[in-house]
Amino acid sequence: MSVAYMTHPLIKHKITMLRKETTGTNEFRKIVEEIAILMGYEALSDLPTRDVLVKSPIEESMQPEIDGKKLAVVPILRAGLGMVNGILALVPSAKVGHIGLYRDPETHEPHEYYCKLPENIDERTIVVVDPMLATGGSAVAAVDFIKQKGGRKIKFMSIIAAPEGVSALMKAHPDIQLYVGNLDRQLNENAYICPGLGDAGDRIFGTQ
Ligand code: PRP
Ligand code: URA
Repeated sequence: MSVAYMTHPLIKHKITMLRKETTGTNEFRKIVEEIAILMGYEALSDLPTRDVLVKSPIEESMQPEIDGKKLAVVPILRAGLGMVNGILALVPSAKVGHIGLYRDPETHEPHEYYCKLPENIDERTIVVVDPMLATGGSAVAAVDFIKQKGGRKIKFMSIIAAPEGVSALMKAHPDIQLYVGNLDRQLNENAYICPGLGDAGDRIFGTQ
């Protein structure tokens, strides 16, 4: 698995804004989407292109366009939903799948409650989005489901990751590409990322 750690100052600045406990739901949601756009721009830099004939007002020429089946964006519910519109801003024609997982508050193990992916998933580049990669349990399970349904070209985008989550995902799925906005220090005893930003789903949706 390749891991790309984001270095752009705009991404770093926006992650700092997310961390502040004074950042309210409305602003938090907006910033998550902006970060998804910036990270998506990086993560999609290797999309294949093909040359097509284009007639401009001046002349005909061969020019590149994105090749292959439409991209699939797959948020891990709930918090991943906050990143979907960022990717759709870049690739409006992308299909959207959903994987519903929640972490058991006691064991921190992921539990699936929903999985629906676009058809011909085996032919698509798949961008899985979830702002938080903590123990890695949810990410590993989500990629397991996608592979069981035939997905192969998988990119995973997380805004904040713990070293434990990166290691777990690398070990379980060495063939995927991981994009991380910031690598934080560690997990605490409740498997929350430190310093982190708290519970991403609650902060995006205004729940507790
Ligand atoms: C959060 C987060 C990830 C998961 C990460 O979701 O959005 O999906 O935890 O933790 P892990 O790496 O230890 O699995 P949560 O289970 O809190 O559900 P939610 O998005 O519905 O709030
Ligand atoms: N999920 C979150 O939303 N935040 C964490 O720090 C860990 C898991």
